[in-house]
Amino acid sequence: MKSLEKIISTDPRPIGVFDSGIGGLTVLKAFISLYPHESYVYIGDTARLPYGTKSPETIIRYSCMLAETLCQMDIKAMVVACNTASTHALKKVEAQIAPLPVMGMIDPAVETARSVTKNKHIAVIGTRGTIQSDIYAKNLRAQDPDLRISSKACQLLVAYAEDGLIDGPLVSSILDHYLDEIFSKPDAPDTLILGCTHFPLFEPLLRQKLGSRVALVNTGLATAKSLARYQVFRPAPLTQTGVIKFFATDGPEYFAKNAERFFGQKLGQDQVEFLDIKVK
Ligand code: DGL
Repeated sequence: MKSLEKIISTDPRPIGVFDSGIGGLTVLKAFISLYPHESYVYIGDTARLPYGTKSPETIIRYSCMLAETLCQMDIKAMVVACNTASTHALKKVEAQIAPLPVMGMIDPAVETARSVTKNKHIAVIGTRGTIQSDIYAKNLRAQDPDLRISSKACQLLVAYAEDGLIDGPLVSSILDHYLDEIFSKPDAPDTLILGCTHFPLFEPLLRQKLGSRVALVNTGLATAKSLARYQVFRPAPLTQTGVIKFFATDGPEYFAKNAERFFGQKLGQDQVEFLDIKVK
């Protein structure tokens, strides 16, 4: 197969991406790094975040609304760029927008972790909703019943990342608080799934703490890499760079101001539009 970077679509319609807010920009960043010629439309549901503490039923309602809104924008594929929404709502969204392809965060990360681990012990961190659902552990064990899984909900890390607290002593101690019980044992995991959009921001500190013996799985990147299996992507040379549109359901100014941490690029205030979505 040609390298993924060269697989470019002949269909000029954008890929729709949604998340509970700003965190999904880490996922969009991963997609753009591999597919810079694609166009994207991103909706951050900032009016209703966080999703990580809400019930599955609520997440399904919100996600289906966002999926419907994206479909009205004439997209060719969709990315559920939120681990919590992927956990609870991916199947519903898939059924809702079929035959449009939908990618969620869970299975590509499961596949990556399973192929990376050598000691067959994998750790997963995520929001309360993602971890309580046990989706990662179930899907990993479905692939390989011999895998050992250690999971931990790290809800506070979402707020830390939102507030720009991604290094320093405070962040170091909260990471210790969450991870010591898993990683201080002699048979500790050799792979850690960062099962939340916000957690790639802690990668530098996690690498410092865990060292090179633990592989970190970025769920956005794993999903972007898995995308080549979809028919909408074909090796055809387009020369232009894709167009990206950003929408936020509340506080587009806040979204633009804080985007850089998650996206790696500055966004101007005029680049993020307010989108009023009413949830039924
Ligand atoms: N986007 C969410 C996730 O990846 C984290 C933020 C939230 O709780 O809304 O699970």
